[in-house]
Amino acid sequence: MPSIESGALSPPPSPLILTQDELKKIAAYKAVESVQSGMVLGLGTGSTAKHAVDRIAELLHQGKLKNIIGIPTSKKTHQQAVSLGIPLSDLDSYPVVDLAIDGADEVDSNLNLVKGRGGSLLREKMIESACKKFIVIVDESKLVAHVGASGAMPVEVVPFCWKFTQNRLQSLFDYAGCVAKLRSNNGTEDGEIFVTDNGNYIVDLFFKKDVGDLKTASDAILRLAGVVEHGMFLDMATTVIVAGELGITIKNK
Ligand code: 5RP
Repeated sequence: MPSIESGALSPPPSPLILTQDELKKIAAYKAVESVQSGMVLGLGTGSTAKHAVDRIAELLHQGKLKNIIGIPTSKKTHQQAVSLGIPLSDLDSYPVVDLAIDGADEVDSNLNLVKGRGGSLLREKMIESACKKFIVIVDESKLVAHVGASGAMPVEVVPFCWKFTQNRLQSLFDYAGCVAKLRSNNGTEDGEIFVTDNGNYIVDLFFKKDVGDLKTASDAILRLAGVVEHGMFLDMATTVIVAGELGITIKNK
């Protein structure tokens, strides 16, 4: 059972309503308190993780952190980290990562996640599964009762005969009223196809009913030829930091 700590925001809650981006920043800064000099760090992707990367760079430039090696989870984060002067490497050189900090699209009470609505799930999963510690940073809007019950469950697929793979994915979850949609850049069916950093496509699965056991669903997706990876991150997060209007909640595995 995950353990839960709560704390007041610093400064304490005021009548001011914080924006979603301010909450993301609060969660990100809290996570960066766990970064120590000499660490190999997985650098996440998305608007929440961006704040963590900014903060790490700030502490490096202030001399409060030293000898950090960052391993970015996307080309976008790579660019951000290069522009901020964070030394970078990869999993080939550093197969064990001390700590990764990343956002998520959904988090349930067992700290299972949906990730990849930003499109970077494959590199995120590779790097975050190589971590000793994985801190997830979210605002409270990301908390759900069951992952996959609301919004897209992204699946990265090879472009070759993607319609075949999309149809097989949809059939797999027929019992859950699944609708599988190829992701486009503008969100419309005839828009330009979204291409991941790895040259693949994303099929988003939308479920009308509960998919049942997540591990079973995960295994079934991964058994399909044509699938590269999916956005269910089961049993991977070691800590989730949630920033809400009333303060920060820290959930540990
Ligand atoms: C990208 C991700 C992101 O972590 C996720 O989409 C959350 O993004 P944001 O912090 O912008 O809400 O998985 O692939």
